[in-house]
Amino acid sequence: MNDNDALNDAQKREKIDPSEEAKSLPWFITMTIGALLMWSAIYISETVMIAAPEDGDNRAPQVLATNDCSATDKVAIDGGAVFQGKCVACHQANGQGIPGVFPPLAASEWVAGKPEVLANILLHGINGKLTVKGVVYNGQMPAFKDLLTDGEIAAVLTHIRSQWDNKSEAIDEKLITTVRDATKDRANPYNGDEELSKL
Ligand code: HEC
Repeated sequence: MNDNDALNDAQKREKIDPSEEAKSLPWFITMTIGALLMWSAIYISETVMIAAPEDGDNRAPQVLATNDCSATDKVAIDGGAVFQGKCVACHQANGQGIPGVFPPLAASEWVAGKPEVLANILLHGINGKLTVKGVVYNGQMPAFKDLLTDGEIAAVLTHIRSQWDNKSEAIDEKLITTVRDATKDRANPYNGDEELSKL
């Protein structure tokens, strides 16, 4: 005797009980979501980020107006803008630094000093004791070798050498490139006066 025989006619006329089954999504929706996920993963991994987004691509408005993408380096780099972006937080807009913490760039003997030394300071940074205008500082000047191009370093150095009554000659991009090449194996900042005075 099988189960069917156990049902009487009235029971056979009944509809089966509704049930909530787990229904899978239609295949084309699953495929679309999968394709979108793959596309976004590939898009993110293939996107080349050459600079921080807030820096833009460093092209001046004049260049953008010409719509010529290859003209990037035809406009002089604005050293003042580099200073605003990368130095002002510590050395301050008036070049006076913060007493006891960040040394002044105005009337600093280092800023007026040998261009090679300045190039080294900017590329590799400083820690340890550094005397500026008779005051000993013991802070950390960050290295900019991975953050600024040779042209930008030359421009910002030229800028600080001509601000706040500083009157030293401009620094050329070629010098920065030479110093960068000559010190390319250096991994640590300079140990203040001790190392910098020997350069
Ligand atoms: C995070 C803070 C900080 C930033 C940002 C910074 N500096 Fe410095 N800088 C210092 C400190 C601190 C010293 C002194 C290092 C020491 O005490 O060993 C110094 C020293 C210097 C010196 C040599 C001493 C002097 O006062 O003349 C120069 C030149 C200099 N910085 C230029 C720059 C320039 C140009 C930038 C921007 C590209 C910059 N710094 C960004 C903190 C900073």
